[in-house]
Amino acid sequence: MADNPIYKLTYGLFVVTANENGKDNGCITNTVGQVTSEPNRVSLTVNKANLTHDMIMSTGKFTASIISREADFELIKRFGFQSGRDADKFAGFADVKRVENGTLAVTKGTNSFISASVCQSVDLGTHTMFIADVGEMAMLSAARSADYAYYLENIKPKPKAVGTDESTGQTIWRCTICGYEYVGEELPEDFICPLCKHPASDFEKVGGGKAPEAVPAGVTEGGRIIWRCTVCGYEYEGDTLPDDYVCPICGVDAANFEKVSK
Ligand SMILES: Cc1cc2nc3c(=O)[nH]c(=O)nc-3n(C[C@H](O)[C@H](O)[C@H](O)COP(=O)(O)O)c2cc1C
Repeated sequence: MADNPIYKLTYGLFVVTANENGKDNGCITNTVGQVTSEPNRVSLTVNKANLTHDMIMSTGKFTASIISREADFELIKRFGFQSGRDADKFAGFADVKRVENGTLAVTKGTNSFISASVCQSVDLGTHTMFIADVGEMAMLSAARSADYAYYLENIKPKPKAVGTDESTGQTIWRCTICGYEYVGEELPEDFICPLCKHPASDFEKVGGGKAPEAVPAGVTEGGRIIWRCTVCGYEYEGDTLPDDYVCPICGVDAANFEKVSK
């Protein structure tokens, strides 16, 4: 990572929100920037797999709430580790303000918001870049903006399974774009980050050592089966893991769980 000039670019972090037919949704991105000042325009690039992408494409409106250093991981989890296709991200979430273009600004863990109306969209293959006229905007706090490096060092919890012990450590591959972590000695060449959809070449090895002995699937002493989240290590006990199960810690789906015995 240190050797790649691409990672020397600095990125902010944003909750980008949209509203379509009364439904609010939003996702985390690191891709908002000013492109012209007269007229005042910003660009935003969103992966086509994101529901937020489709909502902005349909409505032409979004708000980027700028994440500050006071944000906690809960905010990132809520908007960046689950899709609005599966969850109502605003359920029980009161830290919002409805802005003029009909979208919600996030008012906690952010220091300002910029709402915008799309005037041009550029098809980039996997992503769409939206160019948008700036509308309502406001300051919310004096806290400094969180850039991507700050997020990795201070907001994102340290992985539980990083292999610091040469004899027992597991190998972790971290997505340098969104911080998703894959546990496994080798990262498959065709691996695609399930969160930000970037390829294996955007992953870096952050922990290493000999892979642990394979743990046979089975039943605990108490007769229960354990399903372990391969992303954060959370353990679920039960004979079967529901197909629609979502990790309560990191928000990934049932496909990211493995059956282990203790
Ligand atoms: C730190 C972080 C940065 C991210 N950056 C981007 C990004 O720049 N562009 C993007 O399309 N998705 C990005 N994502 C992924 C989306 O936030 C994520 O896929 C989200 O679940 C999409 O939600 P939606 O389907 O409700 O729109 C990022 C996620 C995280 C955690």
